[in-house]
Amino acid sequence: MITVKENPAGFSYIEVQNSSAFAKVALQGGHLFQYKEKGKSPLLWLSEKSHFETGKAIRGGIPLCWPWFGAHPEDDTLPQHGFARTALFEFVSSDEPDENTSEIILKLTSSDKTFALWPYQFELLVQITVGRELRIALTSRNCGTEPFSISSALHSYFAVSDISQVSVQGLERRAYWDKLTGETSIQQGLLRVNEEVDRVYQNTGNTLLLVDKERTIQIVSKGSASAVVWNPWKEKTKGMADMEEAGYKRMLCVETANVLDDAQRVEPGAEHRLELVVSE
Ligand code: BG6
Repeated sequence: MITVKENPAGFSYIEVQNSSAFAKVALQGGHLFQYKEKGKSPLLWLSEKSHFETGKAIRGGIPLCWPWFGAHPEDDTLPQHGFARTALFEFVSSDEPDENTSEIILKLTSSDKTFALWPYQFELLVQITVGRELRIALTSRNCGTEPFSISSALHSYFAVSDISQVSVQGLERRAYWDKLTGETSIQQGLLRVNEEVDRVYQNTGNTLLLVDKERTIQIVSKGSASAVVWNPWKEKTKGMADMEEAGYKRMLCVETANVLDDAQRVEPGAEHRLELVVSE
């Protein structure tokens, strides 16, 4: 069943329920903020203090960072992580091909509002498939006459039982840019998190494993050769109004990205597709 709902503040979202899984997707940001397979615990972390308000990004789930990731390269007065995560998407279509699978497609199209922030004509399609696995495909189409370049991320906040027990497999020997020090290093062994982490890994393969005490989450990507790993840890969390104090212990962002050397140039009439398949 696929139903459009509204919270008391008038914030619209789509509820998806089938024999295998349950999910919620906000029209603002095309933002999936809940996904739970039947009989399993939620796959994604969602802050108890998250805003669900027009114009404010949701803290948790899978925000879409687009058409730039992080601070704008030339103008830091522009919104961090681009404008897509706070823009209102259009609900294009839905399908329920079988009792275990539901699919929805949302779209953001260039408008006067987006031209004020980014001078290109585009269509951004988000295709979300909710089933025994979760699939998200982000298609960036150039509908104008000039090429454009995008950096982006499916900024997944994974739920973990205890951050001190978690490791990420698949990043060994990859180079990463540490956003906290500005230095580039090589990942030695498995990634474990016991302090603030904010890194952009380059030339990544297409499968990462998030190994937790109780489960292993498999993160498979297509159209991506970079990944961002982020945890704000204790001090930074204190300064974040939309995150509960102990929240950092229960989440790890492993983001499927097109960042730094992996930013994508899209020619007029062409498109780039970034895909993520997550399963347990
Ligand atoms: C990560 C960035 O992807 O997102 C971090 O690498 C940033 O630098 C984090 O702090 C959260 O960003 P925001 O804008 O949602 O607070």
